[in-house]
Amino acid sequence: MIHEDIERVYFTAEELKERIHALGEQFNHDYKDKFPLFVSVLKGSFIFMADLMRELDIYCHMDFMTVSSYGKSTTSTGVVKITKDLSYNIENRDVVLVEDILDSGLTLAYLINYLSMRKPASIKICTLLDKPSRRRTGVVADYVGFICPDEFIVGYGLDYGEKYRNLPYIGVLKEYIYS
Ligand code: IMP
Ligand code: MG
Repeated sequence: MIHEDIERVYFTAEELKERIHALGEQFNHDYKDKFPLFVSVLKGSFIFMADLMRELDIYCHMDFMTVSSYGKSTTSTGVVKITKDLSYNIENRDVVLVEDILDSGLTLAYLINYLSMRKPASIKICTLLDKPSRRRTGVVADYVGFICPDEFIVGYGLDYGEKYRNLPYIGVLKEYIYS
């Protein structure tokens, strides 16, 4: 069972729900008179995106992008590959990138640069988790769920070797799993 592989829980399902509700309120306020396009950066953000979207009562569109992941390593290679691009034209749109975790920032730095060329009205970043201590770029998130410690975490969309995304909470794996 996946639960047995968890050493420590960092954010419970209840804590995630409460925080995402508050983030939703922020978007309902900030984008009240706009018509934003929320872009989920797959796969990591799919659960966060689904829960966040259900907190919104503003008019909005949603889209999905897939970027390459680390594979089974736990650190960034710095190489970002887009395997599924947007289906909307984002020119003059207010875009919000929805990410699971902002770590080195390499993925988002690349995406922001790539999408900016299409002339959106604005691009904001919403990340469920932020690891500021590991940043290697100037990327700053506009909306942050939680600041998290410099540890490799899994659950609620976040994976290790494509596993553990289905955990309803976020936690740290037992040491032996990595060896
Ligand atoms: P960055 O490019 O280093 O900011 O990394 C962003 C991506 O790396 C995230 O969208 C995750 O897919 C992955 N990632 C970074 N840290 C973690 C972690 O602690 N657990 C699981 N995935 C992570
Ligand atoms: Mg990801």
